[in-house]
Amino acid sequence: MRKAGRIVADALEMAKDVARSNVTTDTLNTRLEKYVIQKGGRPVFKGYRGYPKSICTSINEEIVHGIPSQRVLRDGDILSVDIGVEYRNYVADAATTLPIGTISSELQNLLSVCEASLMKAIAVLHAHVKLSEVSKAIQEYVEGNGFSVIRDYTGHGIGRQMHEEPQIPNFVNDELLKNDKTLLKGMALAIEPMICMGSYDTEVLKNKWTVVTKDRRLSAHFEHTVVVTEDGADILTL
Ligand code: MF3
Ligand code: CO
Repeated sequence: MRKAGRIVADALEMAKDVARSNVTTDTLNTRLEKYVIQKGGRPVFKGYRGYPKSICTSINEEIVHGIPSQRVLRDGDILSVDIGVEYRNYVADAATTLPIGTISSELQNLLSVCEASLMKAIAVLHAHVKLSEVSKAIQEYVEGNGFSVIRDYTGHGIGRQMHEEPQIPNFVNDELLKNDKTLLKGMALAIEPMICMGSYDTEVLKNKWTVVTKDRRLSAHFEHTVVVTEDGADILTL
C-alpha cells in the first residue's frame, strides 16, 4: 500500500504541472495513466463499474467523478484530480483540487478550507478513536468557515479493494452515532471531504457519472489514504 500510495502521490504532483490553462482533461488522464503503468501500477478507476478513464477530473461545480474529455481547462477554473492505483494487489486513492491560472480569493479559501479539513480529520486519528470523531472534525471545520459538507458521498476503508468498510461520512448524524465504530491500529482509510459554497444537494449528470451541486455553485475535494497507528496515522499519499 505504501508503494501504491507513492505512485498516487507522485501522479498528483505531476498533475500540478500538466493541468494548465488550454490543456484538456483527456491529456491529463493520458499523462497520469502512462506514469502509473510505467511505475508498475494499475489505474483502478478504469473499468470500475464501467468507468471509462484512469482518473476523475471534476471542474468547478462538479464535485466528483467528472470524466476526462476534450474539455479545455480555463484560467480561473478549479479542477479536482482523483486517482486510485493498485500495486501488487493493494490500493491507494487520493485527490487534490488545483487552481488553474489565477483564481479568486474566495475560491482559494474554498480550496484551503477543504484541504485543512482533511488534515484536521487525520490529526484526530489514533488507535481506538471513534469514527464519528473523524467525521465531526471535518464538519465542524468546514461549517465553521462558512461552507457546506456534501452528504451524498463519503470516504471509505481501502486495502485489497478500493472500497472497503467502513464508509466515512464527512458529517455526523444519529445513524452514524448509533452505529459508531472504533478504529484500530493498521486500518487503512481513504478520507475525502467534498465541500461546497452553497447547498450540499447534489445531482448526477446525464453521463451517469459526473456529480454536480444542484445549485451549480462551486465545490472542492481533497483525499488521502492513511493508516491508523497506535498514536496517530501515516499518510500514504503525501
Ligand atoms: N476516489 C473516488 C472514490 O473513492 C473515485 C472512484 S470513482 C471511479 O470513490 F468510479 F472512477 F472509480
Ligand atoms: Co476515494
